[in-house]
Amino acid sequence: MLIENGTIWTDTDGAVLHAHGGHMLQVGDTWYWYGEDRRDNLYVSCYASKDLVHWTFRNHVLRTDSPAEACRVRADLRLTREDGGKVNIERPKVLYNEKTGKYVMWMHYENGKDYLCAAAAVATCETPDGDFVYHGSFNPYGEMSRDCTLFQDEDKAYFLSASRDNADMHMYRLQEDWLNIEKLSANFWQGEYREAPALVKKDGQYYIFSSFCTGWAPNQCKYARTTCLEDGFGLLTKVGDETTYHSQPAFILTVEGSETTSYIYVGDRWDGQDYFNSRYVWFPLEFAADGSVRIISCERFDLDVQTGRCTIL
Ligand code: GAL
Repeated sequence: MLIENGTIWTDTDGAVLHAHGGHMLQVGDTWYWYGEDRRDNLYVSCYASKDLVHWTFRNHVLRTDSPAEACRVRADLRLTREDGGKVNIERPKVLYNEKTGKYVMWMHYENGKDYLCAAAAVATCETPDGDFVYHGSFNPYGEMSRDCTLFQDEDKAYFLSASRDNADMHMYRLQEDWLNIEKLSANFWQGEYREAPALVKKDGQYYIFSSFCTGWAPNQCKYARTTCLEDGFGLLTKVGDETTYHSQPAFILTVEGSETTSYIYVGDRWDGQDYFNSRYVWFPLEFAADGSVRIISCERFDLDVQTGRCTIL
């Protein structure tokens, strides 16, 4: 199946696909793609696919009128501003918690006027593509929390977010139900101003990709790796060119097939003038024997979910 980068992607109804800053979750033979949908009263939309190319729209899973229910004291449950306008929901990520049977979404929350709330927000649902129940926003341990991601390692889940006005990266281990933070596991990249974190595990090593902090303008992606996740990450190494081929990380997709496992960098090619003209780019990752990694920039490639093979065309 052909992945064509930097073009306008549409769903199986021919409508533009709205899933920026997103995340993917595989449930059986179906992938669910969650991402930002900034139209009308929408925040997060969900699409489903079995081949990672044909995406069927499933639901506007988070909206201004989503049901809200507190799951911790003093969380802010507002999904609209006082004047009725929208707040800002960015970088939604979803994992499935086997113990509770719930799909758990974490995201970055701002008040819709400025970027000073710097809060994390949580929502849950019984199904991958149902109406998520919003559980409110909060500042973990009172800290700022902006660009974020979720990562599952066995039965544990971690929420990572840019803190201290983006200067440092925090990694929080979540409590068993994944609805609150259990502890600050690691505080790393002191003063490095990294955004758009995206993690993947390969052969016992954890890799984290991130961008620098230049708003919608693309910059140099860097990665770091560790064998012990809870130690956090250290030295940053450049990967890709100085604009990451005009993109910013959203997440890393792992495609486990019958012949091989492919790892794909999924990025947003933002249009800073017109958000709705933003595109998606997917680039296969190439890992060398010494553990270093390369982003294979290409205009198109063939992705076979059965075998797991990526073939650059
Ligand atoms: C980027 C960030 C995006 C969005 C944007 C707004 O740096 O990664 O998610 O917040 O800034 O300017």
